[in-house]
Amino acid sequence: MSGPTYRAVKGTRDLFPPESERFAQAEAAAARIFGSYGYGEVRTPCLEATELFARSVGETTDIVHKEMYTFADRKGRSLSLRPENTAGVVRAVIEGGLAAGPMPLRLWYAGPQFRYERPQAARYREFRQIGVELFGVPGPAAEVEILTMLFAFLGALGFRSLSASLNSVGTARSREEFGEALRAYLEPRSSGFGEDDRRKLAENPLRLFDSKDAAVRAALEGSPRTLDFLDAESRRHHDEVRRLLGQARIPFRDEPSLVRGLDYYTRTAFEFYRTGAEGQQDALGGGGRYDGLIEALGGPATPGVGFAIGLDRTLLVLEQRGLAAEAPAVVFVASFEGTRAAAGALVRELRREFAVETDVESRGFGAQMKAAGRANARFVVILGEDEWTRGEVALKDSQTGAQETLRRESLAAALRERMRAVAAR
Ligand code: HAM
Repeated sequence: MSGPTYRAVKGTRDLFPPESERFAQAEAAAARIFGSYGYGEVRTPCLEATELFARSVGETTDIVHKEMYTFADRKGRSLSLRPENTAGVVRAVIEGGLAAGPMPLRLWYAGPQFRYERPQAARYREFRQIGVELFGVPGPAAEVEILTMLFAFLGALGFRSLSASLNSVGTARSREEFGEALRAYLEPRSSGFGEDDRRKLAENPLRLFDSKDAAVRAALEGSPRTLDFLDAESRRHHDEVRRLLGQARIPFRDEPSLVRGLDYYTRTAFEFYRTGAEGQQDALGGGGRYDGLIEALGGPATPGVGFAIGLDRTLLVLEQRGLAAEAPAVVFVASFEGTRAAAGALVRELRREFAVETDVESRGFGAQMKAAGRANARFVVILGEDEWTRGEVALKDSQTGAQETLRRESLAAALRERMRAVAAR
């Protein structure tokens, strides 16, 4: 037999249960936790004018230079699938008049992003991010708020040992001075650079920090650091961010070579990861401050700070490291000829609280028990005809095999209690 006629586009994938459910649960946790900090959800289009990303993420970044899905629409306008969501949120906030409204403005989002990268483990061409953007707070309290919230969210997903790496890239001006010093340092050391890295050296030397090439990495050893070029205000800001993070007990370490692969950052830049017992680090996402971006895109001068979590990666790490929360236990309701109608009503009632499966094809009892097994049901409620006339039902625990008879009106409470016991284990 030959394979399927149509396949998902390289670097994209389909999500089925239980994986799709884990994505939905993470998004629900984001809504709950970010919501409790006063963040509301924003949804922006997957498609934007190409120019928006060139202006914000930066023409010379890898993302814009070689990873965007860009095409001309039928009227010849250049459009791109969004490679990230900050630019779109900023555009929306300006266009919708929110940038001129009351500050601070707190938004979060979840959705697919697109980058033409070489697919490999946990790297896709369509991937999902959950992110937040906080507008209108110039001081370090903003960084502390979003990092506290980020760690609360990752903790709720099941992560325990988390840390952030932290740096400051200063203002646009200090970035420029740093870039010049970096170019002067690297030029005499660039004989082994490839064509693309030579372009970066000429156009935007900071982008060389994104390079994985060994010659570039070696040349960068001992190069100037962003921190040596900070203006006094950026330095104060950075020191205060570090002090407050310590006070808030957010684990972080200084990473002087961290500049991030997007051009819009000013001052704070950070990435965050899970640390394993064996010292391995699983990168989960990144973010930072972008105080010039709203103005650069045509809005009022407004500070901004945010982060994005790579959801595909994050959920993979949870699963690989055995940290994923178990899916809620399933209840299967089995019935006989004379209790079928009653079962229908009972299922509707239980579904308000539990994940309930049942047989919709009026099959025999044996087939129903097989279906319960296939559904991996932890509990089976059996509506026997005689018991039902007495106002009773049977509740079976598939794992222990124990079965008991209960009053019908105490079934929900009994299930609730057993579910709690299962979750606590
Ligand atoms: P970013 O570092 O480009 O930042 O992306 C954030 C995260 O998205 C990465 O750390 C990674 O987990 C995930 N990611 C990126 N590319 C892929 C891929 N090809 N496959 C799977 N996961 C991927 C941003 O996007 C900024 N907008 C973050 C931000 C928000 N800064 C301020 N506000």
